[in-house]
Amino acid sequence: MKAQILRSYGAKPDFAAADVPMPELKPGHVLIRVAATSVNPVDIKMRTLAPPFAPKLPAVMGMDVAGVVEAVGEGVTAFKSGDEVFGCPGGIADLPGALTEYMLADARLLAPKPARLSMAEAAALPLVTITAWEALFDRARLKPGQHALIHAGTGGVGHVAVQLAKAHCARVATTVSSPDKAKLAASLGADDIINYREEGVDSYVARLTAGRGFDMVFDTVGGATLDASFQAAALYGTVVSTNTRSSHDLSQLHAKGLTLSVVFMLLPLVTGQGRERHGEIMALAAALAEVGELRPVLAERRFHFEEIAKAQQYLESGKAVGKVVLEIR
Ligand SMILES: NC(=O)c1ccc[n+]([C@@H]2O[C@H](COP(=O)([O-])OP(=O)(O)OC[C@H]3O[C@@H](n4cnc5c(N)ncnc54)[C@H](OP(=O)(O)O)[C@@H]3O)[C@@H](O)[C@H]2O)c1
Repeated sequence: MKAQILRSYGAKPDFAAADVPMPELKPGHVLIRVAATSVNPVDIKMRTLAPPFAPKLPAVMGMDVAGVVEAVGEGVTAFKSGDEVFGCPGGIADLPGALTEYMLADARLLAPKPARLSMAEAAALPLVTITAWEALFDRARLKPGQHALIHAGTGGVGHVAVQLAKAHCARVATTVSSPDKAKLAASLGADDIINYREEGVDSYVARLTAGRGFDMVFDTVGGATLDASFQAAALYGTVVSTNTRSSHDLSQLHAKGLTLSVVFMLLPLVTGQGRERHGEIMALAAALAEVGELRPVLAERRFHFEEIAKAQQYLESGKAVGKVVLEIR
């Protein structure tokens, strides 16, 4: 079968088309005829930095997938041949990715694809939705009526988090960098928009919370933004981060009795532990998508699998607003 393979790690996206063997069906797994995948920042990090969890070369990348079940392995009862599915089952460590015709996937990591979404739309959701869901509900235990600050409300993770928090009846403030992105964030349901280039944390905490702070802050940016997140949290509040490989002064956590949680959604893929939860989250998210409460925003430019280098460069350029998706020809 045809696949796009990464031939070397580095700044240059070194992909080429290749013929690779069809995967052999395993117990507990399904074989997916792939229709679409999407690009995530972790793909760029794996390609350029080759962390220990990067797939070995030559690598088939692509963590998200939407497609049709071709065959099911022994013990799989949740799916049958012909079912449309989506999930985030590979493209990392020793798990093959989606940039190929057929992908072998652990059935625990998948859910039925929402009929309301196209294959491209469904492929935009899994990684970012699992991340946002774990942050808001599994870590912060967000409650209806709570006041949440979600950083980067038009980013991949952020734009899903805004919608999930609103579907859960929270009040949502979000940070963006331009008036156009402010409009997009409002269309996703955000109650209050902060242009972080024009307004600092003291000002928006005073303006939006009367100085009290937010019950929860979901930080999808990290670095200096994480310090601002500690500052923006209310007494006994919770800060959840997706990016905590950095050094910080924790005295604000102490002073306000804050909880800091970290989401690292790759762990079930890399360790094999906790995979059922990813499938559950995908099913819960699919139900929201089916009733129109969760919709992915897709970037203006669309790609086919053989254009993976261009698709990764588009995400790296910072010019894409919404998820960068690729469809098979
Ligand atoms: N740990 C995990 O499990 C996990 C899972 C998913 C993602 N991540 C990480 O989380 C980060 C976000 O992922 P993503 O998929 O959402 O990426 P993305 O689609 O590239 O979005 C990043 C967003 O951040 C915004 N941004 C940049 N600087 C900002 C700032 N100072 N304040 C507020 N917003 C800012 C960008 O828009 P503007 O430049 O217009 O503001 C952009 O919308 C990446 O580092 C990714 O690797 C981690």
